[in-house]
Amino acid sequence: MSEGAEIKKGLAGVIADVTAISKVNPESNSLLYRGYPVQELAATRSFEEVAWLLWHGELPTADELREFQRQERDQRALDDRVRTVIDALPDGTHPMDVVRTAVSFATAGDTTLGTAETWIDPELNLRRAVTLYAQLPAIVAYAQRRRRGQELIPPRDDLGYSANFLQMTFGEVPAEPVVAAFDVSMILYAEHSFNASTFTARVVASTLSDLGSAVTAAIGALKGPLHGGANEAVMHVLDEISTPDRVAPWLDAALAEKRKIMGFGHRVYKRGDSRVPTMKKALDSLAAHYDRPDVLELYSTLESEFFVRKGIYPNLDYPSGPAYHLMGFDTEIFTPLFIASRVTGWSAHVLEQLAANTLIRPLSAYNGPDERHLSDYTPDEAEVEAAQRAEEAG
Ligand code: COA
Repeated sequence: MSEGAEIKKGLAGVIADVTAISKVNPESNSLLYRGYPVQELAATRSFEEVAWLLWHGELPTADELREFQRQERDQRALDDRVRTVIDALPDGTHPMDVVRTAVSFATAGDTTLGTAETWIDPELNLRRAVTLYAQLPAIVAYAQRRRRGQELIPPRDDLGYSANFLQMTFGEVPAEPVVAAFDVSMILYAEHSFNASTFTARVVASTLSDLGSAVTAAIGALKGPLHGGANEAVMHVLDEISTPDRVAPWLDAALAEKRKIMGFGHRVYKRGDSRVPTMKKALDSLAAHYDRPDVLELYSTLESEFFVRKGIYPNLDYPSGPAYHLMGFDTEIFTPLFIASRVTGWSAHVLEQLAANTLIRPLSAYNGPDERHLSDYTPDEAEVEAAQRAEEAG
């Protein structure tokens, strides 16, 4: 690599490829899925319809939706073998690790994974994506119930995706505002262009590896608190602060220690995350439903006090953390919920990557020791000749 070439640390500002799946516009704070503003989809469509849209590029017709829902409902039950693997993990295993392991195991058992050609077959991959999307609620719900020493709850095929997900987790279908807020969160988390986990999935796919490997790797990337793990970290922060009067001293101390405040800031959005107003509205409806104005008070106080100090806006994880808390999820389950949603975006990107593939392989600038040689090593004739040829070629 040439001396002095500019290094784009963290690939910040680098446009690595084109995508037709979503458009993030930091200037107008907007996010489009296949052209539709995400807030319009969240207000009028179900997560099932949005999943279809991400994969197919258009919203489903009534017939397509019915057939898609049938496929999803048919595959909702937790596979016994996956359950056995989850049960084999030690108590206290982080649910992100539980879900990553379950996804890796479930996809390894895919009988259509024969030769390398079948790994990248678009039709098989779409089918595999639907299977993962259908099975993740059971995996995540069981990861939550197991932590509480509770039994697995079977799916119900008379319910939509979100209502069924919640009944598999809590044993009953919650009130309508709760199901609606959960569905909105699933829509908002579904897709966000070349974020770290999606890019991870595309890197894996670009080697012509299989969808299960791409999704398993993406889950690993999502786990970190600078990415998906932030929704969990937000709740720890809110728990730590606990009351609005403690916000200012807590913030001053945290910023003096140069701590990053979780749920704030974004690599792309610098003037507010387009998804926050929609999720905040869902949080407001949950706070009203559960009669928890205290949650909103703490939320607004931290948001405004932090803005005064740093001028940084919240990201989606800020309202979704307390929203999932109010719904009754354990804090450690928040990021697995993100997986259940983002698997749609990840798989859409894997399909897109494979449709026009180029191996993703950037360069690096070397900053290690200058070339040096082992004193007890004697190069053979071929090496000497190769070195001479290289020197002559300049
Ligand atoms: N808390 C405190 N300071 C923050 C901050 C936060 N959440 N987010 C950004 N900043 C500050 C940085 O300290 C830095 O200040 P400096 O210039 O004085 O050093 C400046 O803002 C730029 O931040 P930087 O980390 O370089 O921006 P980035 O684009 O690389 O990072 C994030 C984006 C998301 C990694 C970062 O905002 C962050 O760590 N946020 C918290 C984690 C989070 O919520 N992640 C979910 C993302 S959806």
